[in-house]
Amino acid sequence: MARKIAFINYKGGVGKTSLIVNTAACLARLGKRVLLCDLDTQSNASIWLLRLERWNAINSTGVGSVYSIFDPGAAQLSDLVVDDVVQDKNGTPLLPGLDLIPTTFNLVDLENEYIGDPRKPSYLVFHEQLAKIEGDYDFILFDCPPNILRASQCGVFSANEIYVPSNPDALSLIGFTLLVEKLHKFHQLSASFRDAKMGRPAQVEGIIFNAIKTGVDIEVPKMRMQLRLNQFKTAKRAGRSARIFDSIVRDAMVVRRAVTLGLPVPLIGADSDDPAQSNVVSDYRQLASEIIRHAPV
Ligand SMILES: Nc1ncnc2c1ncn2[C@@H]1O[C@H](COP(=O)(O)OP(=O)(O)OP(=O)(O)O)[C@@H](O)[C@H]1O
Ligand SMILES: [Mg+2]
Repeated sequence: MARKIAFINYKGGVGKTSLIVNTAACLARLGKRVLLCDLDTQSNASIWLLRLERWNAINSTGVGSVYSIFDPGAAQLSDLVVDDVVQDKNGTPLLPGLDLIPTTFNLVDLENEYIGDPRKPSYLVFHEQLAKIEGDYDFILFDCPPNILRASQCGVFSANEIYVPSNPDALSLIGFTLLVEKLHKFHQLSASFRDAKMGRPAQVEGIIFNAIKTGVDIEVPKMRMQLRLNQFKTAKRAGRSARIFDSIVRDAMVVRRAVTLGLPVPLIGADSDDPAQSNVVSDYRQLASEIIRHAPV
């Protein structure tokens, strides 16, 4: 069965998209079959992996975007999967095994304009369609915006694990705290739509520190995060095996450049002469291995 993981924090800009794209790339390099679902209307992961030209073609018509399973409603998620999404300019796959369900800016309409069937919320529509393809994957990853509104709910409802990207600052800790509160409310609201086959509702399983600059000591923010996590575990609002991951992703210019190049960082060159570049590739690899090893109990 596929492991379904949402990356989310109520704090924006902490590195959700960059961590999910680069971890997905490492998982695919390790031979895993990975589906990345972009559930953020900003479309950052989609633009990054498809590059602008291919993404523009979807954005201009809406055909192929995740929102098309809701409006006009004729598409199935299985129709939207872009197989082996990372390609060179001639369409040759560069990273077999990494597929994408893309989004475009029209996903914002799910929040207000879309009037669905109240007996079948949008996250249930998404979940039922995902169930038809999840057997094709080892990992299904959901890139979420910094909230649990309708688009994000699709990922949170379908996921069984939640990872929280964080920077070593107070705002990330506040974002984590708010996330756990909103998650609890969403699980209460959606409980009547769950059945035994879905597995348990997703809990926070891991905190990932990201974009750590050289010479910055993260022991204090890490300790504060650990204390908060312990409180949530005691209150049964985080997974029993939830922990701060040992893997820490360092700050590196190549992460910002990778979007412009339309490539995940591990494909840009792990053997670079620039130590910051090879360090960050090895951080993403370690994180991917740690995620593989992490077994929620
Ligand atoms: N390890 C890193 N080193 C350097 N820059 C990074 C690193 N991780 C992320 N960034 C940069 O930080 C910015 C925010 O990252 P990203 O878009 O991944 O965050 P996000 O949490 O997905 O944001 P949003 O809440 O808007 O979706 C981007 O410019 C990204 O390139
Ligand atoms: Mg993002």
